[in-house]
Amino acid sequence: MARAEVVYESIWGNTEAVARAVAEGIASRLGEAEVSVRAASDETGPDPSTQLLVVGGPTHAFGMSRPATRESAKERGATTIPARGIREWIDALGAPRTRVAVATFDTRTVSPRLPGSAAKKALKRLVSLGYEPAAKAETFGVHGYEGPLADGELERARAWGAQLADRAR
Ligand SMILES: Cc1cc2nc3c(=O)[nH]c(=O)nc-3n(C[C@H](O)[C@H](O)[C@H](O)COP(=O)(O)O)c2cc1C
Repeated sequence: MARAEVVYESIWGNTEAVARAVAEGIASRLGEAEVSVRAASDETGPDPSTQLLVVGGPTHAFGMSRPATRESAKERGATTIPARGIREWIDALGAPRTRVAVATFDTRTVSPRLPGSAAKKALKRLVSLGYEPAAKAETFGVHGYEGPLADGELERARAWGAQLADRAR
């Protein structure tokens, strides 16, 4: 069973790419068998063996997405909209039964820089449920709403994942 889980929400694939890079970083320290990645639309909660939970989503309207913000992505050409985002995934979580470290990240548009972060809000909720913060909420930049990711963000995501794994060991 994996010791680390990365759960993501993504409409255009930018947050998913960051999630996979974070998982690669974790795997570089803990080994590939010790990390799993899945979408928040997958209705299952974390595996009981998980010691490090990483949750990432796009910032929508200064915070975590909602059904209405996800729907409005269609106006910008999005074709596949996930039925659930990280907000709903976290809402369905109970308190952890053992010590579980948590870290959150979001993606946000680099220009214009807007206030508000899905990752900060997600971290606050997870900590209030009893998860232990392993790092400050992290942000990765995308160009426009659809992406691509800003230069160097996947490398930064891998390095961040490795750092999280080192802290959780
Ligand atoms: C409805 C909507 C609202 C958004 N609001 C914000 C925002 O408040 N701040 C921001 O930086 N980016 C905002 N964005 C841009 C998203 O953060 C961007 O689309 C996302 O990072 C792309 O990730 P994805 O490819 O994983 O969906 C918004 C996008 C949508 C569709």
